[in-house]
Amino acid sequence: FENVVSMEDLSAQDVLSFIHEASDFKAGKQIELKRPTYAANLFFESSTRTHTSFEMAERKLGLQVVNFDPSNSSLNKGESMGDTIKTFQAIGVDVMAIRARQNEYYKDLIADPNIHVGIANGGDGSGQHPSQSLLDMMTIYEEFGHFEGLKVAIVGDLTHSRVARSNMEVLTMLGAHVYFGGPKKWYTEEFAKYGEWLPIDDLVSQMDVMMFLRVQHERISDDENGTFSAEKYHAMYGLTEAREQMMPEHSIIMHPAPVNRGVEIADSLVECDKSRIFPQMANGVFVRMAIMTSMLRYRGLINEEY
Ligand code: CP
Repeated sequence: FENVVSMEDLSAQDVLSFIHEASDFKAGKQIELKRPTYAANLFFESSTRTHTSFEMAERKLGLQVVNFDPSNSSLNKGESMGDTIKTFQAIGVDVMAIRARQNEYYKDLIADPNIHVGIANGGDGSGQHPSQSLLDMMTIYEEFGHFEGLKVAIVGDLTHSRVARSNMEVLTMLGAHVYFGGPKKWYTEEFAKYGEWLPIDDLVSQMDVMMFLRVQHERISDDENGTFSAEKYHAMYGLTEAREQMMPEHSIIMHPAPVNRGVEIADSLVECDKSRIFPQMANGVFVRMAIMTSMLRYRGLINEEY
């Protein structure tokens, strides 16, 4: 791919190809670069996992990584994101991962005829998060070996979640049945098109996958934050120890993280047997290797793989 910015650009076959390539990397596959190749990670919004995992993926592929710290950059002098990216391109960067607060920030960049560097979207506002979605799909595929007919619940702060948007679309495309849970005010028309809302007790007893989302306090209003009670949320919508006991034996728990421990999921369950939260992060490195590889391959920068 020239760029990997949205799950909406990927077919079911593309998603499966990314999963298979990521699995090959997990099994030890390596690539050979034709020349010294450079990557940069431009994170204009906070991140722990996506940022470090793109960097780990790039290093594992043999790329040289150019550092960038937005707080000490010429953004402070009013330089635009577009000119920042053109600067990295001018100094020789081949591929980059970008996270920014503005939804669809990437549209102007990939339409700009003067930008040729490969762009992997590391998350845009409440829009898309394709690398997270692909690592989630890889984790589900590893567990079940297929998507057809699986019941997957997405529970929590749907409105502000790029993970919910990316995943409800791709899961439906792959043949899974999507359900939703959490506060009903966050279950809007856009989600109703993809699946029904059910009370949390009904979800935990029926689902193959329980995918919880973080309450994004940084994106909700001061009024909402003022009236928010972690205890109430956990009791009404969270995965309590009692609810975990109601889950089918084969089912799994997922969360993109960071987790508000004791809110979406009981602290004691974050690393329980059913939890795939840290394995999801481990898969993230291999999926991001596959994403970067697809952009390097598009640019003819990889020798025949060995
Ligand atoms: N899951 C995820 O995107 O985490 P970070 O915000 O830490 O990158």
